[in-house]
Amino acid sequence: MKLSIIGTGYVGLVTGTCFAEVGHQVICVDNDAAKVKTLLAGGIPIYEPGLEELVKKNVAAGRLHFTTSTAEGVQKSDVIFIAVPTPPQPDGSVDLSYIERVARDIAAAITSYKIVVDKSTVPVKTGEKVAETIKRYCQAQVECDVVSNPEFLREGFAVDDLMHPDRVVVGVRSQRPVAAMKEIYTPFKAPIIVTDINSAELIKHAANSFLALKISYINAIANVCEAAGANVQEVAQGIGLDDRIGKRFLNAGIGFGGSCFPKDLSAFIKIAEQIGYDFKLLKEVQRINADQMERFVKKITETLWVLKDKKIGVLGLAFKQNTDDVRSSPAIDLCQRLLKDGAALRVHDPKAMEKTKALLPNVTYVDDMDAVAEGCDALVVATEWDEFKKVDLARAKKGMTAPIMFDGRNLFDPAEMEKLGWIYKSIGR
Ligand code: UGA
Repeated sequence: MKLSIIGTGYVGLVTGTCFAEVGHQVICVDNDAAKVKTLLAGGIPIYEPGLEELVKKNVAAGRLHFTTSTAEGVQKSDVIFIAVPTPPQPDGSVDLSYIERVARDIAAAITSYKIVVDKSTVPVKTGEKVAETIKRYCQAQVECDVVSNPEFLREGFAVDDLMHPDRVVVGVRSQRPVAAMKEIYTPFKAPIIVTDINSAELIKHAANSFLALKISYINAIANVCEAAGANVQEVAQGIGLDDRIGKRFLNAGIGFGGSCFPKDLSAFIKIAEQIGYDFKLLKEVQRINADQMERFVKKITETLWVLKDKKIGVLGLAFKQNTDDVRSSPAIDLCQRLLKDGAALRVHDPKAMEKTKALLPNVTYVDDMDAVAEGCDALVVATEWDEFKKVDLARAKKGMTAPIMFDGRNLFDPAEMEKLGWIYKSIGR
C-alpha cells in the first residue's frame, strides 16, 4: 500500500521503516530539514537496535523515502499516519498544537479520498477534533476517514515490538477504512482489534497507566520487603508466574521515567478530571514513583553520611537500557540530586553520554565502564543496561576508597556481592 508517516521521531521512523520492510511504499515526512537531510544521507538521528540496517535496506530497495513536504506525502499516499509529538503542558494536560497543525496541513493538501490515522498518543476525543479540523479546512470537499491506531512499541525494542506486536488496535467511525487498515497490518500476523475511536484512544492511556501502576506496585512491595527482611525478586517471581498477573514489568528499581509513562499518567489524570473522575489511584502511582527516588537518595546519604566532596561513580544515564534517550530519566534526576548535595560524579552510559552532556555539564564522562569507579567513594547503578552486569568488580573495588555499591536496578546478587567484600545496597532485598 502507499503510506505516508508525518513525523519521524521514535514512533514515526520505526513505524515507517517496518511498514516498508513488509513491502509497503512509505514516505516519511518531517518539517525538520536537518533531520530529513541526515536520513537521506543514510544517517539515523536516534539509537534504536536494528533500525539503521533496516532503514538502509528499505531505502536501497526503493520502498522508503524521506521528504519535508507534507503535501507530497499526502498526495502520493492512500493512508496518512500522524506520528508527531504530544508533549505535556505545565498543568499535565497535553499540547495538541502539533496534531492540529498537521491536520490543517493534510486538509490543505488532499485532493481525493484519504484515510488519516492517528498514531500519536492523544487524549480521548482527539480523533473527533482531527476529523472536524480536516473537514473545516479542506477546500477540495473530498471525503476522508479518521482512524485511531495507537502504538505500543517500547524504546530500545521498537523494531521487534513493531514487527511482532501483541495486538493492533484500530479505532474507526465507520467500516470504510477497516479493510485498508487490515491490509496494512496483515503481514505483522497479530490480532487486529477494531473499536470505536474513543475506545482506541483510551486503550493507549489505560495500557501505559496500568504498566506504570504495575511498576509502582512492585516498588511498594519492595519497600515492604525491605522492612520485613524479604526479597522482592522472589516475591515478583512468585506472583508473576500467575498468568493473571504476568512476569513482566515487575522489576523494582528507582522508578519509571522516559518520554511516555510520566507524561501519559499526568495526561490521563487530567483527562479523567476534565470528564469528571478523580483518578486517585493513578495519583498514588505517581507519588510512589517520586518517593522511590527519595528513598534511594536517603539510602545513599545514610551510608555515606556527608555527600559534599564525595566522589561517586554512576553507571547509567539513559531512562532504561538499549536507548540513548535521557528524557525524564530517573538516572539524570539522581545525578542532579547527588550534585546538589555536593558530590562529584564520574558517569558512564553505553549510548546516552552525548545526549547527557548539555543536561549534566559538571560531571566527568568516562568512556570505559570499568574505569568509572576509579578513586570513588561509592558506585551507583542507575540504569538496567545488561552489560553493567559484566563490569570489572575486582578492578572497581581496588580503585575505590571503600567498596560500596548502591544498585538501583537490582543487577547484582546480594549474597555474591557480600562474598566479594562489597557493602552492597539494592532495592527491596
Ligand atoms: C512505554 C510502554 O512500555 C510502551 O508499550 C509504549 O508504547 C511506550 O511507553 C509509549 O507510550 O510510547 P517506553 O517508555 O519505551 O515504553 O519504556 P518501558 O520499557 O515501558 O520503560 C519505562 C520505564 O519503566 C523505564 O524507566 C524503565 O526503567 C521502567 N521500568 C520498566 C521499571 O522500573 N521496571 C520494570 O519492570 C519495567
